[in-house]
Amino acid sequence: MRTIGIIGAGEVGSQLARAAVAHDYQVVIANSRGPETLTHLVDELGPSARAATAAGAAEAGDFVIIAVPLKLVNDMPAKQLAGKIVLDTNNYMPWRDGRFQDIDSGEKTVHELRQEQLPTSKVAKAFTHIQAPRLFLSASSPGTPGRHALSVSSNYPEAVELVTRLYDEFGFDTVDNSPLSESWRSGPGQPAWLSHAHQTREQLAANLADARRIVSFRG
Ligand SMILES: NC(=O)c1ccc[n+]([C@@H]2O[C@H](COP(=O)([O-])OP(=O)(O)OC[C@H]3O[C@@H](n4cnc5c(N)ncnc54)[C@H](OP(=O)(O)O)[C@@H]3O)[C@@H](O)[C@H]2O)c1
Repeated sequence: MRTIGIIGAGEVGSQLARAAVAHDYQVVIANSRGPETLTHLVDELGPSARAATAAGAAEAGDFVIIAVPLKLVNDMPAKQLAGKIVLDTNNYMPWRDGRFQDIDSGEKTVHELRQEQLPTSKVAKAFTHIQAPRLFLSASSPGTPGRHALSVSSNYPEAVELVTRLYDEFGFDTVDNSPLSESWRSGPGQPAWLSHAHQTREQLAANLADARRIVSFRG
C-alpha cells in the first residue's frame, strides 16, 4: 500500500502529496485541468510523483485521497475507485458548494453522500480539520507529549485502520469518530473543527462529544 492516488491538487491535495513523498510513498496526482498543468508541482515533488487524469490517479493508487469539494453531480471516477479505500478531505461549505438539502435537514452527512456516490469504495473522512500547512507544522513523533490528534470516520474498519496508520506515519494521533453518520461532529463550525490549531487525543474526543448538530428544516 505504498502508492497513493490523489485527486485534487489544490491546497490540501498538494500538501498531502508533499507529506506522502516525505514519508516514502509514491504519488499519482490529478486536478481538473489535466496532467500537463501539474508539471511545476510534480517537478517540486520529485521522482516519487507523477501527474495523471483523475481516473489515472484512481487506478494507480493502492488507496486514494479525494481533495475535491463534493458536488451533487458525481465528478469522481467511480469505476476506477471501485473496491478501494478512499480518504475524503471534503468539508461542506454552502457559500462555496451550494446548499445540499439532505445535509441541511440532518438526513445525511456530506461523507455519507460521498459514500453513496462511490458505493463500492470504502470511504473515510480524513484530514478535514487541519489546515494544509499544519500537516508539517503540527506533526510530531509517536509518544510526544501533547501530540496533535485528528479524527477519522468510516463505515469500514479496514479504512479506519489504514487512516490511523497513515496519521501516525504523518505525525498525528487518531480518534475514531465512526461511522460516517457521526462524521458531522468534526464538521465546519463544530468544536473539533474550530480547535484545528491544536488538540490532543483527549481534547479531540471531548470536542467530538461536545458537538451539537445544526439542522435547518425544509421549508
Ligand atoms: N485548504 C485547507 O486547508 C483544507 C483543510 C481541510 C479540508 N479542506 C477541504 O478539502 C477540499 C479541498 O480543499 P482545497 O483547499 O485543497 O481546495 P482547492 O485549493 O480549491 O483545490 C481543489 C482541487 O480540486 C481539483 N478538482 C476540482 N474538481 C475536480 C475533478 N472533477 N477532478 C479532479 N480534480 C478536481 C481542482 O483542480 P483545478 O486546480 O484544475 O481546478 C483543485 O486542484 C475542500 O472540500 C476543503 O473544504 C481544506
